[in-house]
Amino acid sequence: MCGIFGIVSKRDKLLGPTLIDAGLRLSYRGYDSVGIATINENGIIDLRKDAGKVTTVAERFNFKEMIGKRGILQLRWATFGEPSMVNSQPHLDSEGLMVGAHNGNVVNNAELREEFIAEGMIVRSTNDGESCVHAVERFIRQGFSMIDAIRKAYDVLKGDYAFVIGKADDDRLYAFKKGSGLVAGIGDEFTVVSSDLPSILPLTRNIVFMNDGEIIELSDQCFTIYSVSTGEVIDRSAEIVEETMEVAQKGGFDHFMLKEIHEQPKVAEELLHLWNNSPSIDVTVEALKNARNIYFVGCGTSFNACVAGAVYFNRLSAKTTIPIAAPQFIAQYNRAIGPEDVGIFVSQSGETKDVLNAVEIARKQGMRIFSLVNVVGSTLTKLSEKWLPLVCGYEISVPATKTFTNQLVAFLYLAYKVAAKDINELNQLPDHMLKTIEEAENQVREILTYVQDWNDLYCLGYGITYPIALEGALKLKEITYAHCEGMLSTEFKHGPLAAVTKDYPIIFSTIREDIPLIISGINEVTCRGARAIVIGPKDERLESNAHHTIRIAEPTPEFASILTIIPLQLLSYYMSVHRGFDPDFPRNLSKTLTVD
Ligand code: AGP
Repeated sequence: MCGIFGIVSKRDKLLGPTLIDAGLRLSYRGYDSVGIATINENGIIDLRKDAGKVTTVAERFNFKEMIGKRGILQLRWATFGEPSMVNSQPHLDSEGLMVGAHNGNVVNNAELREEFIAEGMIVRSTNDGESCVHAVERFIRQGFSMIDAIRKAYDVLKGDYAFVIGKADDDRLYAFKKGSGLVAGIGDEFTVVSSDLPSILPLTRNIVFMNDGEIIELSDQCFTIYSVSTGEVIDRSAEIVEETMEVAQKGGFDHFMLKEIHEQPKVAEELLHLWNNSPSIDVTVEALKNARNIYFVGCGTSFNACVAGAVYFNRLSAKTTIPIAAPQFIAQYNRAIGPEDVGIFVSQSGETKDVLNAVEIARKQGMRIFSLVNVVGSTLTKLSEKWLPLVCGYEISVPATKTFTNQLVAFLYLAYKVAAKDINELNQLPDHMLKTIEEAENQVREILTYVQDWNDLYCLGYGITYPIALEGALKLKEITYAHCEGMLSTEFKHGPLAAVTKDYPIIFSTIREDIPLIISGINEVTCRGARAIVIGPKDERLESNAHHTIRIAEPTPEFASILTIIPLQLLSYYMSVHRGFDPDFPRNLSKTLTVD
């Protein structure tokens, strides 16, 4: 994710405290490293940066004394390059005449680094933020103006990111965005630019919202916006923003959970961009192809993703994989595993003790350790032969949402690769997710009244929707405090059927090929008085057998499985809010479980 902030003032002044304050507000976007560069009226750049959180690095490098006319701050959520001083941002160009920082991901970073080195530039890190600076440097060296150099760099740098840069021998900052958020603010004798609105609001409410394909040039009291494609000036005025800080932090949503549900299409797109250009993928795929046994290991939501991963691998590549909850992995397989086996360990935090315990045993037995992790630099990344980032940015809400869907996207990606299927097909998925979020909202609200006051319910799925039922039930119990069991639909008749009373809510999930089987399940419960709600494709058979249907597109069965979790996330969310709970911080739970 990462966060950037830039400020231009009228003359040299103490900028350190303002930049630290912005850093604290942006710290939810990354805490792997932090850095500040100030540029004074004489063009002298003072650059201080290191791995660590903003408070500790600021103290160590005395950020608060930093003076300049311009300043740039960056907080890093590591993706390219381990968290370290050299990979921390901002970065200098070869001669130390420009300084810049980005947030997001430049997916062709590896190729660009090679090109810049071959062109004789001094490349100090493996971080993609540095590539942004050198991309501008390349065109400045060729004699282009700053605006034209940035326009050309925009085309060179692939991915989703926002970038801010300053040049020692002028008195402005320049920023642009491609896929990531960027806002600017105009104050009294200063201008600012940032990854988000809340970091600007304490300074000014005079705001300019940026679009992709635009460059903003900031001087101490005004701004000019240029079109990347034509170089022409775009006429736009600043607007007064009235939002409170809390509303702004949640991006206008009432809770982080809802914001994160809505972020799912975007982070899926970012994962696909990044992985398409990642050298770690090939190593992981080769290991999977050659493995004797493959284990998918995780806990909670991450375990549910492992179950989905196993279904994807079976359907697409006919490969057997074993999904297993981390503690049970030890009990069931600790003596059987060896160097011929591959484990994909899955964890949002990368710090879950149950998962790390399993990794420890696996390492002792010589098993090859790979991982899917959201928090780069976490313990799990360090214990893995290769780790693949989930690219979700910071997930603040305790219930996992966007990290779950990106775990599914990640497994689907690997299954496609192992099966040598055309990976480009996956590029359609984010749009389907977007449409599903839009369409599910009203459908979920319609069924809410039949579910929200029950303290006991079931989520049933079959085959590819079985893990979705598990995850839907986990979401419901986690934030509504109702008892909700996720189960294979065919197992329901083997005991739980006894729980059914009049109007008892049972939520089925299905894809088209499983409709006949699900219809049997529906009738087994409705004839005993239950209320059947089905999430599945538009189909007359479902409409006529269930009480309520939530329609999901089915471009492919695998895509449909990912789309199916969205209404369940929304249902959990609205039910939690209806009950007066805070879905972001459910009682008794913690985002990261570092205990046995
Ligand atoms: C899911 O909503 C929960 N927060 C929880 O089940 C979580 O998935 C589990 O604790 C595992 O965490 P991890 O992915 O960070 O390892």
